[in-house]
Amino acid sequence: MKLITILASGTGTNAENIIKYFSNEKNAKVRLVLSNKPQAEVLKRAAALGVEALFFDRGQFYDSGEVRRILQERGTDLLVLAGFLWFIPEHIIKAYRGRIINIHPALLPRFGGKGMYGDRVHRAVLDAGCTESGITIHHVNEQYDAGDIIFQAKCPVLPGDDVHSLASRVHTLEYEHYPVVIKNLLEEMDDQ
Ligand code: GRF
Repeated sequence: MKLITILASGTGTNAENIIKYFSNEKNAKVRLVLSNKPQAEVLKRAAALGVEALFFDRGQFYDSGEVRRILQERGTDLLVLAGFLWFIPEHIIKAYRGRIINIHPALLPRFGGKGMYGDRVHRAVLDAGCTESGITIHHVNEQYDAGDIIFQAKCPVLPGDDVHSLASRVHTLEYEHYPVVIKNLLEEMDDQ
């Protein structure tokens, strides 16, 4: 059984979608959800679905090694970022190199980097007059949004779109593709 840990800072609709998807799978499941925000809705969503959900603070993530210890203790084959806003410390990247992925709500390499998250991304896409946007699923390395791209899917930007309507179209793509990409990656690990 392959074990997934999700890191998320916010609402957690992707986390919920991934948990539900893998609850029907035999070979993988979401073992743990971790958040750097004690009140994050993602923790409630995960707990309601019977998944262990824990808060951690800056010191536990960057300094003491406590988060890494928990990941190792619970077992983690793949670390999945789903709306997680902190930089991943080098010691975790080293321990899980090639096994940490993120989803970005636009077509990287445009509209990525530090400070580009949530509605700011969609605002920038609209301001640039793009006729399409989409999602990028990529490996996580030492730089924001700069790891190797694993998968992209596109959607149109329609006349009259605002941040809300574009975000909702992009979210639909995320729900459709993120679990499947995770599943494929886990299967590839099996073959190695
Ligand atoms: C998603 O749009 C994802 O691409 C980005 O953060 C958002 C998280 O949304 N990284 P939710 O918390 O899963 O609803």
